[in-house]
Amino acid sequence: MGKKAVIFGCTGQDGRTLSQLLLDKGYDVHGMMRRHSFSSTQDTRLKDLNGEIKTYYGDVTDRFTIDKMLREIKPDEVYNLSALSHVKVSFDVPNFTMQTNCIGVFNIMDSFLEYCPESKIYQASSSECFGLSVNDNGFQDELTPMNPVSPYGISKVCAYNLFRHVRRAFKCFAVNGILFNHASKWRGENFVEQKIAKAAVQIKMGMIKTIDLGNLDSFRDIGNSRDYVRAMHMIMQHNVPDDFVVSTMETHSIREIAELTFKMVGLNYEDHVVIDQKNFRKEELPYLKGDSTKIRETLGWKPEFTFEDTIKEMVDHWLDYYTKQKYF
Ligand code: GDD
Repeated sequence: MGKKAVIFGCTGQDGRTLSQLLLDKGYDVHGMMRRHSFSSTQDTRLKDLNGEIKTYYGDVTDRFTIDKMLREIKPDEVYNLSALSHVKVSFDVPNFTMQTNCIGVFNIMDSFLEYCPESKIYQASSSECFGLSVNDNGFQDELTPMNPVSPYGISKVCAYNLFRHVRRAFKCFAVNGILFNHASKWRGENFVEQKIAKAAVQIKMGMIKTIDLGNLDSFRDIGNSRDYVRAMHMIMQHNVPDDFVVSTMETHSIREIAELTFKMVGLNYEDHVVIDQKNFRKEELPYLKGDSTKIRETLGWKPEFTFEDTIKEMVDHWLDYYTKQKYF
C-alpha cells in the first residue's frame, strides 16, 4: 500500500497541486476542507483531479477536527498549507490571521506530537517572513534575518519558529519550505499576477476597460506552483529534517508583470492600468529575490517553468475560460 498523506489547506492553489502530485505517486491523500456558504465552489480546485482525494470538513482552529484526522488516518506525511494567505487582507483581519496562522499551526503540531510523532510534518513558510531584510548580494536565503512587515509575515515567522523548536526539542521530522511567490492557473484571483492576467484578457475581449492596481514598483521572485509542490515533497523525502528556500533566483517588478501580461494579449498596460490607493498596504515589502542554492545543491531541485511560462499559463487559462463561456 502507498503512503498516507494529510493536507491541511487542500483547497488552495498549492493544496490542489500537491494533491495531484501525491496521487500520481500512489499516495492515499486526505485533505481538510473548511465549510463555506457556497457549497458548489468550496472544492472547485479539487473537482478535476485525476484520482481521488478524501476530504473532511474541519478547521485548523478547531483542535477536535485535527485530532480526528490524525488519530484515525495515522499519516506518513502531514503538510500544513492552511493559512490566511493574502498579505493585504491580513492588515484587515490581524486577529483572525494570528488565530489561523499561529494558533492553528500550534493545534496541528500538538496533535501531530500526540498521534503521529514518528511521521513527517511540513510547514508552508513564506518569503514574506524576510520583510525588509536583504543580504548585501541582493538575495534572501536561509540565514537572512526575518524582519516581517505585515500581520501575515509576523504570523508566518511564529509558525516557522515553532517548527524549528519542535525539531530541536522533540527530535521530530518537522520542516519548513520558505517559498517565494508562486502562481499557476489555480492562483487566487486577488493575487497580483492572476488579477492582472484575468483583467488583461477581459480588456482584450471588450468586457472591461481598465484594471485598478496599487504599488507597481515592488519586486517579486515568482515561480510556478507545480515546481514548488515538487520541492515540498523533496524536502519531506530528505534523510534529515531541514529548512529550505524555494525560489527562481530572479526578480521582476509588478510593472514588468503588467507590461509582459498585456503584451501577451497584444495590449499596452499603460493604456489600461489605473492606480488606486485602496490597493496599497500600510507597510510594503519592497523587494524579494530568493537564493535557492541550498535546495538545488542538497536535493537537486530546480524549477522547470520560467517566469514567462507561468504568466502565459494564467493568460491562457482566462482566454480559454472566457472563450468557452462566450461561445458554448
Ligand atoms: N494583491 C495585489 N493587488 N497586489 C498588488 C496590487 C493589487 O491590486 N497592486 C500592486 N500589488 C503589489 C503588492 O503591493 C505587492 O507588492 C505585490 O503586488 C504582490 O502582492 P500579492 O500578489 O498580493 O502577493 P504577496 O507578495 O503580498 O504575497 C504572496 O507571496 C508570499 C510569498 O512571498 C502570497 O502568495 C503569500 O501567501 C506568500 O506567502
